[in-house]
Amino acid sequence: MIIDWKKISEKIYEKLKDDVSQITWEKPTLWAILVWENSASLRYIRQKRKWAEFVWMNFELKQFDEKVSEEELLEFIASWNKNRSISWYIVQLPVPQHINSTKLLRTISPDKDVDWFHPENQWKILIWDTSGFAPCTPYWVMWIFKKLNIDLIGKKIVVIGRSNIVWKPITAMLINRWATVTCCNSQTPDITEFTKMSDIVICAAWQPWLLKLEDINDDTIVIDVWFTVIEGKIYWDAEFDNIHANWNLITPVPGWVWRLTVANLLKNTLKAYKIWNM
Ligand code: GUN
Repeated sequence: MIIDWKKISEKIYEKLKDDVSQITWEKPTLWAILVWENSASLRYIRQKRKWAEFVWMNFELKQFDEKVSEEELLEFIASWNKNRSISWYIVQLPVPQHINSTKLLRTISPDKDVDWFHPENQWKILIWDTSGFAPCTPYWVMWIFKKLNIDLIGKKIVVIGRSNIVWKPITAMLINRWATVTCCNSQTPDITEFTKMSDIVICAAWQPWLLKLEDINDDTIVIDVWFTVIEGKIYWDAEFDNIHANWNLITPVPGWVWRLTVANLLKNTLKAYKIWNM
């Protein structure tokens, strides 16, 4: 069965729109920096603009040539940190290889980091400090559990992946909620050994069809976070058609994933706006 997130995301967007419409002075603006014009980043940026405008926020993009030097880019970011009229912003990842992304993320002011990429904000997840911004993709995974009334205490959950912005924060958030978490990745010798025993599998590995129907039980819930495009064809991490046909609960990607990740980005933006203006 497909988890119907279209319906739920519609409610989230209507609520955001309503919250923004209550603001009687200048509407919030989401500022974005784009350095590398690859097709995935351009699609992401288009979605961010589309949904920001949908909830009546403004969206401003500063685009750099992809040959921009690291020094020039970091200086520009530092100038946005000081600029009082730019209260929050995002840098679309990935950036070209000649730019050190760890250094770049450290340059973003943690108070303006609505994408939750600065180490200071990331650290808060590990120590259960909820005062910061929420990591955008992991947060909607937690929404799913809430909306499906799934109590995570004692649940056996396998999280497959390795990334800093999805896999690591999801793992920490699940541990914070008393789940029993097993961490696997594409090099785990026998993933089935773990997934067969699990109540929930979260795929965030960017590996085509890594999780197959025979790797799970009939009642395992599959949360598939992303997909890979190879020669124009879309591959999910999980074998969607077979798993879906077997009546396991599964999330449908792509399409809705953007919508939910961007919803959290806009929620963070609104939170930042309220901190700065109220
Ligand atoms: N690249 C892939 N996902 C994201 C995201 O959530 N934010 C930014 N800034 N870049 C990304």
